[in-house]
Amino acid sequence: MLVLGIESSCDETAFGLVEDGRLLAESVASQADVHALFGGVVPELASREHYRLLGPLFDEFMESAGVLPSDLSGVAVARGPGLLGSLLVGVSFAKALAFGAGIPLIGVDHLKAHLLAPGLEQELSLPALGLLVSGGHTHIYYVESAGKFTLLGRTLDDAAGEGFDKVAKMLGLPYPGGRALDALARFGRKRGQINRKLFSYPYLDNKNLDFSFSGLKTSVALYLKNNPAILEQARSLPDDAVQLEEACAGVPELTELCASFNHCVSYTLCTKLRRAAGQLSLESKPVKSLIVAGGVAANTMLRDDLQVLAGQMNLPLVLPRFSLCTDNGAMIAYAGYLMLTAGYVHNLNLEAIPRGKNIPEDQVRLCAPIF
Ligand code: KG4
Ligand code: ZN
Repeated sequence: MLVLGIESSCDETAFGLVEDGRLLAESVASQADVHALFGGVVPELASREHYRLLGPLFDEFMESAGVLPSDLSGVAVARGPGLLGSLLVGVSFAKALAFGAGIPLIGVDHLKAHLLAPGLEQELSLPALGLLVSGGHTHIYYVESAGKFTLLGRTLDDAAGEGFDKVAKMLGLPYPGGRALDALARFGRKRGQINRKLFSYPYLDNKNLDFSFSGLKTSVALYLKNNPAILEQARSLPDDAVQLEEACAGVPELTELCASFNHCVSYTLCTKLRRAAGQLSLESKPVKSLIVAGGVAANTMLRDDLQVLAGQMNLPLVLPRFSLCTDNGAMIAYAGYLMLTAGYVHNLNLEAIPRGKNIPEDQVRLCAPIF
């Protein structure tokens, strides 16, 4: 069974081909350069770029994989959550392909696809505690099967990745900010510069599993206002990632800020995960592994802290490789493959669902008429 995955929910135009559960080919075209000029994703530009690139990139991808549309068993597409205009480009393209090639269409929940992605490379041990940390979402799930996710907690305002991006923007770091901030924080931590007194842990003084990162962002803004020399240090940094690593030694207050901020985010995520595991255990719900996915799962400090947490909880930690953490087509193809093998598809009236709206359970059994 050969499933094509199409991802266009934000600023990556990506494809993946999964054959019988294994990754055959993938390609990701990032729009980072386009949005870097504005310091963040501009939705209208994102959809125009997808519109411009999706057709030619599809032709190129299929040709280099040696696959024809008629070879496909189904086409899966990220149907949300995401930027509506961007999603519509991918969803419309997938519908046309499904109709033209006479193959099933599968609408995939982008967030669930992130958490299932490690299944491409290893056996997933379910039920699992899942953390999805990306630029738009910070969700804790109880994952019982590929089709059964229960949302346990979510951010009430900014997502963790949004926090990284906004702090990076305040500092004028090269876009995309999360990765640059990670490099500075990594250096700061190596030098023992995590200062727990700089910022307080956000939204931990409660019993719930939700997050709120906007207050932490404001604390960083205030700290920078009172310590303008840090902004001078940030301005002195080179744009180039390799040179950035080398320049870290000359900006000690900046690396302290980044390490302390990164620690706050990582500690908060790990604390709520520990709390979630405790809650599930009280409810006698088994947990066999901890799965963490999404762009922020690429963060060095978080990955290390999660290893420690998983060790303490005696759970195997499942972290996708770096390229599977950020948006990609492979995870969409894989989630689509799982749905298709379970016998679920969508009709051609599949809707794109923007961020903030719930994804409906509107899949149909394969035996029902598809068109
Ligand atoms: O999953 P993703 O590629 O796109 C969304 O669906 O949002 O996640 C992108 C987010 C951005 O906020 C980016 O800054 C963050 O992931 N990110 C990181 C790192 N790499 C990407 N945040 C912290 N450290 C990183 N190394
Ligand atoms: Zn994503």
